[in-house]
Formats: sequence, C-alpha cells, structure tokens
Amino acid sequence: MPLVTSKQLLLTALENRFAVGAFNANNMEQIQAIIETAEEERAPVILQASQGAIRYAGLELVSAMVKTVANIATVPVVLHLDHGPDFQQNLQCLRAGFTSLMFDGSKRTFEENVAITKKIVEIAHIVGIPVEAELGRVGQSTECLTEEQVCALMTNPAQAKEFVERTGIDSLAIACGSVHAMKVAEAELDIPRIKAIHEQVPNTPLVLHGSSGVTADSMVAGIEQGLCKINVATYLNQAFVRGISDGFAKHPDEVDPRKFLSIGRDYVKEAVREKIRLFKSAGVIDASGGFCSPARQFRSAELGATE
Ligand code: G3H
Ligand code: ZN
Repeated sequence: MPLVTSKQLLLTALENRFAVGAFNANNMEQIQAIIETAEEERAPVILQASQGAIRYAGLELVSAMVKTVANIATVPVVLHLDHGPDFQQNLQCLRAGFTSLMFDGSKRTFEENVAITKKIVEIAHIVGIPVEAELGRVGQSTECLTEEQVCALMTNPAQAKEFVERTGIDSLAIACGSVHAMKVAEAELDIPRIKAIHEQVPNTPLVLHGSSGVTADSMVAGIEQGLCKINVATYLNQAFVRGISDGFAKHPDEVDPRKFLSIGRDYVKEAVREKIRLFKSAGVIDASGGFCSPARQFRSAELGATE
C-alpha cells in the first residue's frame, strides 16, 4: 500500500498502549528486512532515515527504495526523517515524499527550538505531514556522560506542555534515561518522569530515542506510561554486521556478496521481529491493512495515505 503518515498510527498506539517500531535503515537489505518482518507480524512500521543514512544513500534513493518496498506490502509503512537538523532538510524531505518529519532542536535554546519547530509544523501541516520534535536531549554513547549528566539533560514535564502548546507538534521525543548507540541494553528509563510528561501532554504520543541501550522491561513499562514510538538503530546494525561476519566465516571462499548480505538481512529480520513483539504492535493490522481489534478500526484513507 502507499506510504501513510505517522499521525493516526501513533494516536492509535497511544489509545491502545502499544508502540510502533521506528527502525533505521541504511541500505536495501535493511529496508527489505524491516518491511517484510512488519508484514509477517501484521504490524505497522516506521522506517526512518538518519543523518548518516542520508549522507550514505541520499534522500531521493532512500525515499524511492522505501516507497517501492512499501507499495507491495499490506501493512502501513511510514517514511520518517530522523533527527532533522534544520528547516531546510525538513523541507527537502517533504519534497522527497517523506510522510513524517522530525526537527531536532535539542542542542539549541528553548526559544530557538520553539521557533524553528513551529515554522516546520506550520508548513508540514498544510500538506498533512506530521512533525516530531525533541525537548531535553538524548546524548550519544561517545560523549561518555555520567548518570548525573544524563539526568540533567532529561525532559522537564512542565516545559513539555509549553513546548507542545507553542509548537503544535504531533509527537514529542523525550529524554528519559536512554543514550544513543549503546551496544548493551543496560539502561533503565525514568518511568515516573515519562508518566509526569504524559500527564502534562496526554494527547501527544511520546517517542523514545536510543532504545538499543534500554532494558526490555523498562521499555514495556514506558509503553504503559505513554511511549508510542520507539526508535531502534544500533541493535539492527549489530544484527546486520553479525550476519555478514557469520557468512564470511561459513563461506570463506565465496565471492558473491549476496551470500553474505542475505544472511545479514535474515539476522535483521529476527531483530525487528523481537522488537515488534516486545512493543506489542504485532497482530494489530488486519488483512486489508487497517487496524483490527483491540486497536480501533481505520480505513486506509484515515491512516493518511499519500498516494
Ligand atoms: O534516532 C534513532 C534512535 O534514537 C536509535 O538509537 O541506535 O540507540 O537504537 P539506538
Ligand atoms: Zn535518536
């Protein structure tokens, strides 16, 4: 089916207490693995292009590959910009057919973050495309932050309310204990903080970044308190690389790259399956591509189909 926007998917997730997996992809094999697994699991899925993926593959190629694979899938697929750094790139993605945007103003002042986010929201909403923005800051593992520093960067619940009201965003990326690109899942989320943010903005889906370093139990507890979109990147890259390297070990004389890349793709599929099931989004899409019980029923048009 044609790409859909993230708007109705995330509101349905919020209402039914599950999270939509938002998986980063850098190449054809990862895109195939993510969408094929979503289809097998009857789950809606968000495919997102990071800044690294855009540098590696280019906006137009990412967009064309995702659209092509999504078109033959029978579950809703969203193409989302991850950590858009400015107004310009958000507009370029709008033109390239992305169906969900993100502006990351987390390193800017609060007022600057509000101003740029608001400008992107105004334009994107004219053409029905939702926008995610970040308040607080989810750090990077390379920064080697202390626990105190991670806490100091967390989202302030009262400020979240002001941010949502002033910008009109559709979903809010919060800093609640995770750090990007951790290789081991050992971080615990600040669940009372997620609850407090959700109470301030009860109708706004909350987004978790940096999930690869977070324990499974903590993510499940976070979903119960309002997390509706969970971003996964490092965990899938680890699976892909493991698959390729197992392939090399098994077939040391093989020269056909497809022999290795397809094993990487299979490993990514299993990683995606594990997350979709953990996020409780498996089995929510019926054969026609709409939500089935216990999620509310939606026709394709209500999902925000774009073509
Ligand atoms: O925006 C992307 C994510 O926040 C991914 O984080 O690499 O820690 O899974 P991760
Ligand atoms: Zn992120």
